[in-house]
Amino acid sequence: MENMILQLIYLIGSITFIMGLKMLSHPDTARKGNLLAAGGMTLAILGTIFLYRDGNGEGLHNYAWIFAALIIGTVVGTAVSKKVQMTAMPEMVSLFNGMGGACAMLISIIEYRHIMANIATHTPGTGTMIVVVLGMLIGTVSFAGSIIAWGKLNGSIKDRTIAGGQAINFILFAGMIALVIMVASGKFTDMPALFYGILVLSALYGILFVMPIGGADMPVVISLLNSFTGVAAAFGGFLYDNPVMLTGGILVGSAGTILTILMCKAMNRSLKNVLIGSFGGAKAGGGEAGSKEQGNYKEISLNDTAVLMAYAQKVMIIPGYGLAVAQAQHTCHELEKVLNEKGVEVLYGIHPVAGRMPGHMNVLLAEADVPYEKLLEMEEANDQMGGTNVVLILGANDVVNPAAKEDPASPIFGMPILEVEKAEHVIVNKRSMKPGYAGIENELFFRPKSSMLFGDAKKVLQSLVTELKQM
Ligand code: TAP
Repeated sequence: MENMILQLIYLIGSITFIMGLKMLSHPDTARKGNLLAAGGMTLAILGTIFLYRDGNGEGLHNYAWIFAALIIGTVVGTAVSKKVQMTAMPEMVSLFNGMGGACAMLISIIEYRHIMANIATHTPGTGTMIVVVLGMLIGTVSFAGSIIAWGKLNGSIKDRTIAGGQAINFILFAGMIALVIMVASGKFTDMPALFYGILVLSALYGILFVMPIGGADMPVVISLLNSFTGVAAAFGGFLYDNPVMLTGGILVGSAGTILTILMCKAMNRSLKNVLIGSFGGAKAGGGEAGSKEQGNYKEISLNDTAVLMAYAQKVMIIPGYGLAVAQAQHTCHELEKVLNEKGVEVLYGIHPVAGRMPGHMNVLLAEADVPYEKLLEMEEANDQMGGTNVVLILGANDVVNPAAKEDPASPIFGMPILEVEKAEHVIVNKRSMKPGYAGIENELFFRPKSSMLFGDAKKVLQSLVTELKQM
């Protein structure tokens, strides 16, 4: 009876994951979708704790340990999530993803020890062994890689190209596969040194695989590692014959893969180029190589900006990472409303990789209640650029860099950009002439149509709103 109810709970849990994921595709329903899936997961966890029965009708033990871990995890997770800045979200996702990988790794270790304890009376099937070793390999790579990605994003680990890195990675990879085949084949299952050898090689591989990847490519790597964790969790689902774990793992695995492909497409780069291109890392300069200036730029005053905007018919705002850093989304919405009152149409041009994570700008502006219809996807924004009087770039850089279209030697050549120069006037707000995340110079700032409006985005927008209100 308990098992029947549990299977029903797992079915409900799986359905909530699928519905939740579907609801995440629109800002209006995303929050509810997240809660729905989390509710399904809570139900599945509690159901397993209280209703699971093994073949002998035995339930779980160690309730004190289980609930202590649940309480600590819930308290720490809630506190960290509430405190985290939107701009630090990718590093938090990376850390949490690493925890998922570590879980898959621990599950495999525990199950291997379980198999070893009973090996005299019960020989494990090849299928079980494949699932155990692959779950550990993928989980460990994901855990080690995610921790390195987390360190890189918070600045504690620097991009580092290791001499002969690709050859070392190839040897590690070949070694891992050889050990996996040996342990899973059954002939060497009872040799723990081989099993733990997979653990060591996978951890080294995870570290060395992520270490040389450029900082600007970290979101893609995190998404890829996320899909690895999903696959490792799905192996856990096979192992325990647990449909909810299987469904969750497959959904995470496929969503991570799709997101990785979409991000690569948005940058017009292959996954191989992302993984070995060192884009935005040490090679690209990360600041020094890009600090060479390319000519004269002109500045514009706040007053002149306000006049240009007030007499415009259409203004297009291009938000970027700097807007998120400055937390200027609410002031930006206020500027939009003041301009609307003066009869100016205001739209937003959203680049798919603006900011530091997929949908970063959409989430940021939705937080400030900017109507979703005003957010134009890149292609649509470019179509409307010709009829735009003023483009106001707020803390964006790489996503408007003309080198992506014009300079075949540029590391971002081929990436589609927001073609702001089709508009009449381009006003760029940032704090200095420093390059963006990819570490490369932006010639747009030196072009005849462009004017620089220096300062922190929030302060500049507040002053602009005051100026416009006085006009
Ligand atoms: P970036 O190229 O990183 O440029 C952001 C600019 O904001 C900087 O040049 C900085 O200049 C300015 N800034 C920083 N703080 C500011 C503040 N308080 N007020 C005003 N300006 C400020 O940003 P982007 O154009 O959004 O491009 C995103 C980058 O991330 C791209 O290279 C993209 O390929 C990469 N990336 C993103 C993703 C996703 S999914 N979003 C995935 C992979 C890679 P100052 O220092 O002079 O102020």
